[in-house]
Order: sequence, then structure tokens, then C-alpha cells
Amino acid sequence: ATTLGAAAQQSGRYFGTAVAAGRLGDSTYTGILNREFDMVTAENEMKMDATEPNQNQFSYGNGDRILNQARNQGKRVRGHALAWHSQQPGWMQNMSGTALRNAMLNHVTQVATYYRGKIYAWDVVNEAFADGSSGGRRDSNLQRTGNDWIEAAFRAARAADPGAKLCYNDYNTDDWSHAKTQGVYRMVQDFKSRGVPIDCVGFQSHFNSQSPVPSNYQTTLQNFANLGVDVQITELDIEGSGSSQASNYDRVTRACLAVTRCTGITVWGIRDTDSWRASGTPLLFDGNGNKKAAYTSVLNALNAG
Ligand code: G3I
Repeated sequence: ATTLGAAAQQSGRYFGTAVAAGRLGDSTYTGILNREFDMVTAENEMKMDATEPNQNQFSYGNGDRILNQARNQGKRVRGHALAWHSQQPGWMQNMSGTALRNAMLNHVTQVATYYRGKIYAWDVVNEAFADGSSGGRRDSNLQRTGNDWIEAAFRAARAADPGAKLCYNDYNTDDWSHAKTQGVYRMVQDFKSRGVPIDCVGFQSHFNSQSPVPSNYQTTLQNFANLGVDVQITELDIEGSGSSQASNYDRVTRACLAVTRCTGITVWGIRDTDSWRASGTPLLFDGNGNKKAAYTSVLNALNAG
């Protein structure tokens, strides 16, 4: 196959990208989007601050723009993200206790209901575990409402959109030996054992020299899959250039292909100039929209798999 999406489809997987509504008028951007990718994640437009800027006043304009563009082109959509300690609307940031718990659950219910039937998978909860050696939860206003806030969010999402896969999504959970990875693993294991509705785990996979592609990455994906969930690479970008970047992209792609329940890969932007890493070159297309060596290595790996 000659495009990322078609190449991934050969093994029943998808290949997606993050999309920013503000770039949809850029024909180079949209041309690559329409040609190469078969899954779309809104980079910011479905987050809590974007969708509920004032309490109980929901705003779906930019999220809809991305969703409709994708669906009109026959692409599926990953929803990102229903509950997160970051990018909360101002009115939520200083809330606590029962009021915050209810506001969070109402948000999950309202947004998942609005998009019911149109989302392949939701990142129900994003980045709820602490960095460092504790393996425990991240402190946040949501965490302080009680340790069961995550399962409450998943149950609300399931009730609102029973057809969407429900994912937990995080970063620095790629290395099997990290305490954070182990903490998330234990939560998923616990959810599966108690029947809390969880279908998938997203590995953001933002890699750079401080946080390289771990040698045990495939092991991590496989161990989570063995718990009975799908795994997905949800926000892939890898700093670097040339052949070393290309070989890292190759390794990540092959790791997913080697795990039956790794259902797809999403890169976090199209061209290097679209990346949240302002000064870097972590993506598959250069600023002019030309394919990089990293692109070719991903395409070849998908075609070989
Ligand atoms: O749109 C406003 C613009 O109107 C304003 O003038 C400008 C001034 O700061 O800000 C613009 O909003 C920015 C937005 O990106 C759109 O560009 C926000 O400040 C900025 O904080 C926001 O950054 C996003 C970041 O999440 C916020 O946490 C990045 O685009 C987005 O790529 C990044 O994505 C996250 C995932 O959601 C979760 N995992 C990590 C990943 C990378 O940080």
C-alpha cells in the first residue's frame, strides 16, 4: 500500500493523526490528512476547556469541524479527552469535593452523549498517574474527590456511549520497569477483575533523548494486552532526524504490529511545524509537507507487517 492508513489496514489496524481545527483551511495540511490517515484525534478541541467553557454550557463547534471533516472522508475518530487534571475550564479549576465530582461526571455524560455512536474510542481519563517512583496517582483536584474518580468516569462514559471503546491514556508508561507503568497496570488489572468498564490503554509515546523508545516497549504493550484490553499508540512523536529517527519510528511500528491487540498508531500532528514541540522535528512530514525518512520507515514497516 502507498499510504499509512491503507498500509495499516492490511493488518486490520489504523494509522491516525492529531488534527487542529485551525489548520483545516491549510490545503497542504488537509491534503496530507485526507490522503494518508484513517483515524483522527482532535488535538485540543474535545478537551474539557473547549467543550464546557462555562458550566453546563457546552461548545462543540471546533470539535464538530474536526469530526465532520474526518467522517466525510471516511475516517474514524478517537475522542480526547473526557476527564483530565489539565486543560480544565476556569470554572472547574478551583472546585472540589462533591461539586467537582458531579461536575466531572456531568461533563463525561454530556460530551459522550453528544458524540454517541460517532467515536471509535474515548480517552476517558488522561494522565492520572504520578511521575517518579511512587507508582501512585497524581495529586489533582479530581484525585482529591476520591480514589474511585477514575472508575466513576468510566462507568459514566459507558452509560452514555455503550458503543465506544473506553481507554485510559498516559505518557511515560512505555517502559515496563517504570513505577508509573506498573501503577497503571495494577489499576487496569483491578478494573478488569472488578468489572469496571475499560477496553483499552493508550500509550502516548512522546519520545526524545531524555525519554527514548524503551528496549522493552513491545513487552509493555503485550503485558497490558494480556490483561484483556486493546492497546493503542495514541500521541506518537519522536525527536531527531534522518536515519536514527527513522529507525526509532520503525521500532515503534514493529512493536505494535507484533502485538495482536495493538489496534493502531496515532502520530501527534502532521508536519514538524504542526507539532506541539515548537522547536523540534518529531513528525513524519517536514514543514513543507514532504515525506521524511521516518515516513518511509513507518510505511515500509506497515507493509512488511
Ligand atoms: O488557541 C489559543 C490561542 O488563541 C492563544 O492565543 C494561545 C496563547 O497561549 O494559546 C492557544 O491555545 C494553545 C493551544 O495549545 C492551541 O495551540 C494553548 O495555550 C496550549 O496550552 C495548547 O497546548 C496543547 C497542550 O496539549 C495543552 O496541554 C497542545 O496544542 C497539544 O498538542 C497538547 O497535547 C497533549 C495531549 O492533549 C495530552 N498528552 C500530551 C500532549 C502534548 O503536550
